[in-house]
Amino acid sequence: MPTIQFANHSIECEKGDNLRRVLRKNKLPLYNGAAPVIHCRGLGTCGTCAVRIEGEVTEMTAIERWRLSAPPHNKANGLRLACQCQVLGDLTLTKYEGLWGHKSEVKHSP
Ligand code: FES
Repeated sequence: MPTIQFANHSIECEKGDNLRRVLRKNKLPLYNGAAPVIHCRGLGTCGTCAVRIEGEVTEMTAIERWRLSAPPHNKANGLRLACQCQVLGDLTLTKYEGLWGHKSEVKHSP
């Protein structure tokens, strides 16, 4: 059973669970600012569920690759969209500042 470290919490989920759903179910702060209201509900189009992931998740989906190549994201920041990832092993997540969580030089403090 994978363990996820995020925002000073440690939670467990099933292998293969959708990362966004796991974080939402556990009421962890995946979204910044107004994003909890305006997000795309996991379609992969808004980009606001971006996090840095250390650990094993599924490969990038086509829509995730597309969204992370569009501003304010850029492929170089190495972020992933939680809504497009299935958990495959233990993870450590970091959420950055900004509506899209894209300011990878600034760590978000929940
Ligand atoms: S919730 Fe919109 S891209 Fe993930």
